[in-house]
Amino acid sequence: MFNWAEHRLLWGAIALLMTTASAAAAEPGHFGYGTTPTAAQIAGWDIDVRGDDGVGLPAGKGSVSQGESVFADQCAACHGTFGEGEGRFPKLAGGNGTLKDDRPEPTVGSYWPFAPTLFDYINRAMPMPTPHTLSSDDVYALTAYILNLNNIVPNDFVADRESLPKIKMPNHDSFVWTDPRPDTAAKPCMSACIDPGAVKITATAEGNGLTPKTTGPLDNMQPK
Ligand code: HEC
Repeated sequence: MFNWAEHRLLWGAIALLMTTASAAAAEPGHFGYGTTPTAAQIAGWDIDVRGDDGVGLPAGKGSVSQGESVFADQCAACHGTFGEGEGRFPKLAGGNGTLKDDRPEPTVGSYWPFAPTLFDYINRAMPMPTPHTLSSDDVYALTAYILNLNNIVPNDFVADRESLPKIKMPNHDSFVWTDPRPDTAAKPCMSACIDPGAVKITATAEGNGLTPKTTGPLDNMQPK
């Protein structure tokens, strides 16, 4: 039996769906799929810490001694109790003065230019089997411990967002910090950048016999 009330309800619902869909499609730049990420989702991705000034370091802190126990539990199996490296896993300490040797030993102490980068790296990538499982406090503590293994900070050092950027790493000055290529220092131009009178084409390769007429064996493969 045809039920007029149900019929109207059904078409009402369809019409409503269509209006919502077309309203969404009409929004500029909106493709009608995906969802806006939540603040928590963005925070999960936005974990980078800048090396030179530590921008991005989170709240929290950790001491050398706390780091020692977390390191023993979660890191020593691969990196050795004192960062000496088990088997072929990387050393995290030592190697000072070896960078010019035939077999250099680049470690946090002998090579890395910035202490905040150590926080970033551990937080992002370690422990290798289960990254992103450490609390910020544990990562700070591990950072403090590894810096202490390298004799860069004293035993009572506490790592946090204030203290890490102040550390001068032993190899910092061996890096080249200014790029001498002139175009890397150019200021980006955002509007009215081309002065039409400033650029004059004075010569071109065209007609100067610079481009060979044949280009070698591949010529034979060109359609005749
Ligand atoms: C299963 C073995 C394993 C465990 C456990 C592990 N790591 Fe690593 N770690 C590695 C390997 C392999 C690399 C080299 C990765 C690469 O170069 O891509 C590395 C690299 C590192 C580096 C960078 C070394 C350098 O100079 O480039 C640091 C720092 C580090 N790990 C710290 C830690 C800390 C802290 C823990 C404990 C929370 C930990 N790792 C646990 C295997 C491990």
